[in-house]
Amino acid sequence: MASEDHIERTFVMIKPDGVQRRLVGKIVARLEQKGLELRALKLKNLDIETARKHYTEHKDKPFYDHLVYYITSGPIIVMAVEGFNAVRAVRQLVGATNPIEAVPGSLRGDFCLDTVRNLVHAADSPEAASRELSLHFGAEDYVSEVRIGEHND
Ligand code: CMP
Repeated sequence: MASEDHIERTFVMIKPDGVQRRLVGKIVARLEQKGLELRALKLKNLDIETARKHYTEHKDKPFYDHLVYYITSGPIIVMAVEGFNAVRAVRQLVGATNPIEAVPGSLRGDFCLDTVRNLVHAADSPEAASRELSLHFGAEDYVSEVRIGEHND
């Protein structure tokens, strides 16, 4: 095991195209099949202010306004996903930003064609994961472990 290997939590979003195309179940199944666990999940509409904050690192890019417009155009799913090296594991599952370059077998490689409508967003570093999780979730949104028959109260 390399020294950087550890359990971590990352942020994943199913974009409006994924929800509209009813691919939520397939995408969540891929994450679970990999061995990752859901810690929080919400179906919601993203407000413009939160969308701008979420994509703040792209604010000077020519596609920023269109990206914010698109990501607020329909319901999305936001998730906190946990597991061994989760940030890198999820990025591999999701595939390259441009779906034409995403390898077959990855979500973008198998299910989309367009760089804006590229199905899923996943945090690209532990620092980004931490920032994005705190933007989309509060402490009350998390479950610590998924166990049947155990109550948190
Ligand atoms: P995502 O992983 O959500 O992170 C930033 C998003 O910006 C990216 O996916 C794409 O949807 C979008 N994006 C990145 N590069 C471009 C580009 N050249 N043109 C349009 N959109 C882009």
